[in-house]
Amino acid sequence: MNRYIRYCLVFLIPVLFIFSQCLHKSKPADPRGPSYAGSAPCLKCHKDVYQNYLHTAHYLTSRAASPATVHGSFKSDSNTVAFNGDIKAVMEKHGDSLYQVSYAGEKLLQKQRFDIVIGSRRAETYLYWKGNEVHQLPISYYASLHKWANSPAYSADSVNFSRLISARCFECHSSYIQNLPDDKGSVAKSDSLDKSTMLLSIDCERCHGPGAEHVNFHTQNPTEKKAMFIAKIGALTRAQRMDLCAACHSGNLSMMAKSTFTFKPGDTLANYKEGERFHRLQEVPKMDVHGNQAQLLIGSKCFMNSRIECSTCHNVHDNAVKNVKTYSQYCISCHSEASHNFCKLAPQLGNTINSNCIDCHMPVKTSNAILINGPNNLTTHPFQVRTHLIAIYPEESKKIMAFMKLVNK
Ligand code: HEC
Ligand code: HEC
Ligand code: HEC
Ligand code: HEC
Ligand code: HEC
Ligand code: HEC
Ligand code: HEC
Repeated sequence: MNRYIRYCLVFLIPVLFIFSQCLHKSKPADPRGPSYAGSAPCLKCHKDVYQNYLHTAHYLTSRAASPATVHGSFKSDSNTVAFNGDIKAVMEKHGDSLYQVSYAGEKLLQKQRFDIVIGSRRAETYLYWKGNEVHQLPISYYASLHKWANSPAYSADSVNFSRLISARCFECHSSYIQNLPDDKGSVAKSDSLDKSTMLLSIDCERCHGPGAEHVNFHTQNPTEKKAMFIAKIGALTRAQRMDLCAACHSGNLSMMAKSTFTFKPGDTLANYKEGERFHRLQEVPKMDVHGNQAQLLIGSKCFMNSRIECSTCHNVHDNAVKNVKTYSQYCISCHSEASHNFCKLAPQLGNTINSNCIDCHMPVKTSNAILINGPNNLTTHPFQVRTHLIAIYPEESKKIMAFMKLVNK
């Protein structure tokens, strides 16, 4: 009998072990590895931050395409973009699926489904899966124009479904996607992406780093009020905090030495970029306003002579759209009559100055990197971005002065 039990145990223990491993494996693991928890568990203990965050541009920047997440119109009077000759692209809705379809006259040329939406505030562009590759759809939606138009830098001669999208796009607009090896076994040079590893949206751990240990610890120790096992952003140096934002807000000029998906708070961005262009400040005035917020700010006298950084003006958990008056209060916290470094135009402008430093010193500029071509490449639509090079802009200032005088009359 004793022996019988012993045999049973010898048999049962491995079976139970294997079974427990199966249970463990069937739980959907985070594709980034076991040190990541995903955003869902954060809700329990950080409810306010979490719920505000769901409305931010970071959270919304990439999502699965559906009639609820694609904002352009599918109505027959506004769903068509005309190209040269009788070529056109039509946005069509069949059930819950959305398609971009190109026609020559009545003849259907190509039809592809909207799978992924990129962009949230000013523009949306769309991607589709073709086997293991991701391609961009020809037509994007521009909120400021309230209409569909050619995707940036596309020619107006033909409807182009072929632009290949690499993991680089996802590095700045999502939380994760992995490359699949190509024919030669190379992952680095491959254009194939593994759909099962895709995490859309910029999630908490993109900025806070891996959080599984933090979640486990605080779940098991609910009375501990001190944060454990999570990067403390407040304890980082200013350069480290700048790099955290610059991982996605310093443009796309340099070759990347490695994927920024692995970038964690405290890391040095220079180790991820092969080129040294990021640090060439003399190029700052020539830099495009799109996506280069970090270098532009670093090139400003305010940055060189004070402790100003991104979070001086932005709270990334909050989607509250601030107006120029609110932003101007941050300027006034350093620049005032009392501290003798106020605006030279203050006497001329009187009280109105306090409501708007921004339009004169951080004017909106047209991006040269994003060009939107209409038919015959004749009409181009401007894509406008707020410059982060805080400086003196005499031309813009003159216009604003004229406008202010008009309003004050
Ligand atoms: C079981 C509860 C619990 C869960 C789940 C949890 N946290 Fe926390 N977290 C805490 C506590 C407690 C603190 C310390 C008090 C505070 O700052 O709110 C904290 C603090 C933090 C801090 C501030 C660190 C500092 O001191 O600068 C960050 C950032 C953070 N958590 C991120 C996350 C993220 C991201 C997730 C989800 C992956 C998460 N937390 C999930 C309990 C939790
Ligand atoms: C993983 C990449 C990534 C990181 C890291 C990141 N951002 Fe962004 N950020 C983006 C992208 C992409 C957008 C554009 C989102 C859109 O509109 O679709 C954006 C948009 C913004 C906006 C505009 C929000 C709006 O409402 O239009 C601000 C402000 C901003 N980021 C500040 C920051 C700051 C500050 C940090 C550092 C704490 C930071 N970002 C870190 C990728 C990132
Ligand atoms: C775009 C980057 C970014 C994302 C995404 C992000 N955070 Fe933060 N978070 C920050 C920064 C930067 C700070 C430090 C703010 C400061 O010092 O002003 C911070 C601070 C915190 C803190 C401590 C201070 C506070 O406000 O309570 C908590 C907790 C926190 N984050 C949780 C989260 C959770 C949970 C999510 C996801 C729902 C999230 N964060 C998403 C950048 C981010
Ligand atoms: C190095 C990071 C980075 C890369 C790579 C990148 N973007 Fe962006 N993108 C941003 C940032 C930051 C913004 C918002 C701020 C701005 O316009 O300066 C943005 C804005 C956008 C917007 C407009 C969103 C809005 O509403 O303002 C779209 C659409 C977009 N990107 C699509 C793409 C696509 C498609 C790719 C790949 C071909 C791509 N981006 C690659 C960082 C990046
Ligand atoms: C954290 C403090 C701080 C904040 C916030 C700040 N600045 Fe500055 N700024 C400075 C310092 C310090 C200088 C250098 C002054 C000097 O050289 O005498 C400066 C310089 C300037 C200059 C002179 C630039 C030049 O090229 O000559 C202008 C204009 C300016 N700031 C406007 C602004 C505006 C507008 C804002 C808000 C959008 C702002 N600053 C926010 C600290 C700040
Ligand atoms: C002195 C204040 C200030 C600082 C510091 C600052 N920003 Fe901004 N940011 C603004 C203002 C003002 C706007 C325009 C908001 C608007 O027009 O609604 C803006 C807009 C943006 C946008 C949206 C661009 C657009 O045209 O809509 C992004 C992205 C952004 N900031 C990122 C950053 C990043 C990243 C940093 C740090 C490198 C940073 N900002 C530092 C004041 C600041
Ligand atoms: C109507 C446009 C306009 C507005 C509004 C405006 N500025 Fe200026 N500011 C200018 C111009 C132009 C100059 C350069 C004047 C000169 O050198 O004669 C200047 C100069 C400055 C300087 C440099 C002073 C120096 O000693 O060289 C600072 C700092 C400054 N402004 C801050 C601000 C702040 C802060 C606000 C908002 C409270 C503001 N400005 C609002 C146009 C404007």
